[in-house]
Amino acid sequence: MKSFLIGKNIYIRGLKQDEIAEDSPYFEWLNDLSLDLYTERTYFPNTPERMEAYFKDAQKFSKTFLMGIFDNASDKHIGNISFTNINYFNRNAFIGYLLGDKDFTGKGIITQAVLMTMYYGFNKLNFERIYGGVSTAHAASYRVCEKVGLLKEGLQRNHLYRNGQWFDQIPVGALREEWMRDFGDQARETFDELPT
Ligand SMILES: CC(C)(COP(=O)(O)OP(=O)(O)OC[C@H]1O[C@@H](n2cnc3c(N)ncnc32)[C@H](O)[C@@H]1OP(=O)(O)O)[C@@H](O)C(=O)NCCC(=O)NCCS
Repeated sequence: MKSFLIGKNIYIRGLKQDEIAEDSPYFEWLNDLSLDLYTERTYFPNTPERMEAYFKDAQKFSKTFLMGIFDNASDKHIGNISFTNINYFNRNAFIGYLLGDKDFTGKGIITQAVLMTMYYGFNKLNFERIYGGVSTAHAASYRVCEKVGLLKEGLQRNHLYRNGQWFDQIPVGALREEWMRDFGDQARETFDELPT
């Protein structure tokens, strides 16, 4: 059933218990080293306990807002998007995304998912600032940031160590008023139904 954030091509909703189980695609994504070339998800092997703990934290509706991304046409779970480190005092959060199903790469899925989630973050969760970080080696992910208005805010040198080499990280961020002015219309267009 399509629910929560309903887009023209994808929908985004909370995950169910069976969608984090050991035989779920999500469980496998977190053990797939090829999906983690420039991020930091797979330092330790994934385990049911680790999944359960993360999921439980998200269920508490405190600092983590974890959502699955689903393809409208097939109802397939194809990725995740989250706000973590939610700070209620300063009204900001870290946005992270994972496109797990490689068949959906390069189709604009993550761009749409980020636009929808940021729109929700600014307009319903009342965030003032949404921020993230992307390795300089991950050109596709940085391109997504450019397309969704997550602006470069500096450079963190030697942030990520991978295969014997250091990579810098680009911190990115967006402020509500600027983002709504520059990306609000584009975000609204990705929705099939605007969140109320
Ligand atoms: C980065 C990633 C999440 C993007 O998801 P996606 O749904 O494929 O992204 P989109 O289709 O919305 O946009 C990708 C953009 O990057 C561009 N791109 C792809 N490969 C690129 C490369 N090597 N260099 C520069 N740009 C690249 C695409 O052309 C597109 O930009 P465009 O619309 O201007 O043509 C995905 O490609 C990926 O790397 N997945 C691996 C696992 C993962 O999710 N990691 C977490 C990322 S931090």
